[in-house]
Amino acid sequence: MIESTAMTRTATGAHTLPGEYFTSQELYDRETDRIFLQQWICAGRASSIPEPGDFFLHEMDGESFIIIRAESGQINCFYNVCRHRGTRLQQDSCGHIKSRIHCPYHAWGYDTDGNLKSAPNMMGKEGFCEQDHSLQAVACVIWQGFILINQKQPGTDFQAGFHDILHRFDHWQLERLVSAHEITYEVAANWKVIFQNYSECYHCSLVHPQLRPITSVETASNDFEEGHFLGGPMILADDFKSVTMNGQFCGSPFNDLSADDLRRVYFYTLCPSLFISPHPDYVLTHRIERVDVSSTRIICNWLFPTDAIEQDNFDASEAIEFWDLTNRQDWEICELTQKGVQSRAYQPGPYSGLESMLAAFDQHYLSLMAMN
Ligand code: FES
Ligand SMILES: [Fe+2]
Repeated sequence: MIESTAMTRTATGAHTLPGEYFTSQELYDRETDRIFLQQWICAGRASSIPEPGDFFLHEMDGESFIIIRAESGQINCFYNVCRHRGTRLQQDSCGHIKSRIHCPYHAWGYDTDGNLKSAPNMMGKEGFCEQDHSLQAVACVIWQGFILINQKQPGTDFQAGFHDILHRFDHWQLERLVSAHEITYEVAANWKVIFQNYSECYHCSLVHPQLRPITSVETASNDFEEGHFLGGPMILADDFKSVTMNGQFCGSPFNDLSADDLRRVYFYTLCPSLFISPHPDYVLTHRIERVDVSSTRIICNWLFPTDAIEQDNFDASEAIEFWDLTNRQDWEICELTQKGVQSRAYQPGPYSGLESMLAAFDQHYLSLMAMN
């Protein structure tokens, strides 16, 4: 029997954030400076660019980044800005570069490590040094198959920052999982509303009638209760093997899971851009992109082992259908929340004991914003 800690949790009298945190352009810009330019941001999965020369663009806060697999196999991230007169280099959202990243203006060419390799009428000329004109790199690490980028120069120490969860997902072999399906949602709500909604199941009985019998809010507990990473497990009800429409596995359960983990689904937030939800047979991920103060893009992926996907009878539809339905239920209630917190009538309300992770998120968020 797995003990629930639900009864011991508390939000210690905490209240929701004031309305301006969901509406103010000034605070949104402050988030850019204090959070999004400082922290590691998830830009996607390494498996989406398997071959040297494969790239995709990551757009954020008006910036564009080229994320490209180099000849060496390493993944690099560069500002999508030519070192001649600044022109945007790549416009295609993804693709493959044969040999050079070529600027469309005067044909300067860069290799996949960002080195300037050609500059018509300038290479070899006195006073011009190509080494001084490499593409501007952004710190980039691959962790558990996720591409994480950091615009701070030099980048914030990844090992130190992610120390607590570096190996948290090893039993799901996350780095080896690939996406069986992806859905992008555009939601008319501030990014923090999305984080807060994911971080509690107080709403599940009303908003998610299909989820309610699978994981009961009474079984929720947390193994990260403060700081950058928050969340923990819920226990599957006896009749369910996984979170799917029919309650059965979509793939084989992961080999290395303990008996307890085979009966659990975990829900973790990684501030400010990622949710990771390991299931016994797959891992659901949500990548969160701020669009503006009242809208957010959410890229949802269903990750499975390659060998499961390659099996003839592989069918992820039971998991996809379940979470697509649940996601849409969440986005609808998030949009209603955004409408409400924009009202002049809105005042911070008290968190319940089932919303302790929201209080923890707010506390961490405010510390990043240097406002408490
Ligand atoms: S601006 Fe790129 S080559 Fe001139
Ligand atoms: Fe929900």
